[in-house]
Amino acid sequence: MSEWELEREITAYYERGEERERLTRNPRGRLEFVRMQDLLRRLLPGEGLDVLDVGGATGIHSAWLAADGHKPTLLDPVSDQVAVAAALPGVTALVGDARELPFEDASFDAVLLMGPLYHLVEREERVRAIAEARRCARPGGLVAAVTINRVAGWNDHLLFRAGGDDKGISAEASLRVLREGDLRFFDQHMFTTAYLAHPWEVASEFADVGLDATQYSVQGFPGFIPQLEALVDDPAGFAHLMEGLREIETEPSLLGAGNHLLTAAKV
Ligand SMILES: C[S@@+](CC[C@H](N)C(=O)[O-])C[C@H]1O[C@@H](n2cnc3c(N)ncnc32)[C@H](O)[C@@H]1O
Repeated sequence: MSEWELEREITAYYERGEERERLTRNPRGRLEFVRMQDLLRRLLPGEGLDVLDVGGATGIHSAWLAADGHKPTLLDPVSDQVAVAAALPGVTALVGDARELPFEDASFDAVLLMGPLYHLVEREERVRAIAEARRCARPGGLVAAVTINRVAGWNDHLLFRAGGDDKGISAEASLRVLREGDLRFFDQHMFTTAYLAHPWEVASEFADVGLDATQYSVQGFPGFIPQLEALVDDPAGFAHLMEGLREIETEPSLLGAGNHLLTAAKV
């Protein structure tokens, strides 16, 4: 087990168990899930790969990676989540921290950081996690990380003011997050300590460990549409949305205008 400490409120938040259904319980989650699958299936460098799913929680991504014929190893600091993932067919799961991966150099064809980077508030620690991912990836392999864009908290507050659900972020907090990125003082009932990044920050953190990254918008600005539910629930509307998102996914001027960003690099 790593020597690195995880902030107590992060562990407490994930011990509540809500993560398990996050990507399946509503249309917004489903859009994120389907887009993430679509992007990763195109980016993974082959079939039957050894994939390390760092911050994999209860295994939402490891489950389909195994079903696709890959050999996922999931690592997460929250032992309750790891226990759920360990029961999934074809998934190996262990407790650990992204900042100190308990694996030999070049052990995996792909290392996914789909969670850790936005929970590491200090730049130095995010770079450390990316460096660890790079160390564990084989030459020719993939390092891919998900981040939450800087505007996401502000958008949650705007949607609430326009009549939507209360995501627990006040006007003042949303502007502070917009300026500073640090979501540490956010209402812990809704989410937990996080750093909301601009795309260029993530690219520069990859560059610090020698990785030349390509960035992909996950939900894009359509993810901010208040009536998104209706669009995702309509098969024709959803297919149209997916096609358009593929068109704009790497457009630099749009990368930061959406909830999530995927940053990927070949090692
Ligand atoms: C929002 S969940 C994401 C789960 C899943 N990967 C997904 O994409 O839906 C973030 C996950 O990152 C994990 N995490 C937080 N800090 C971490 C760290 N330092 N190292 C590894 N995982 C971490 C949390 O325990 C949690 O399971």
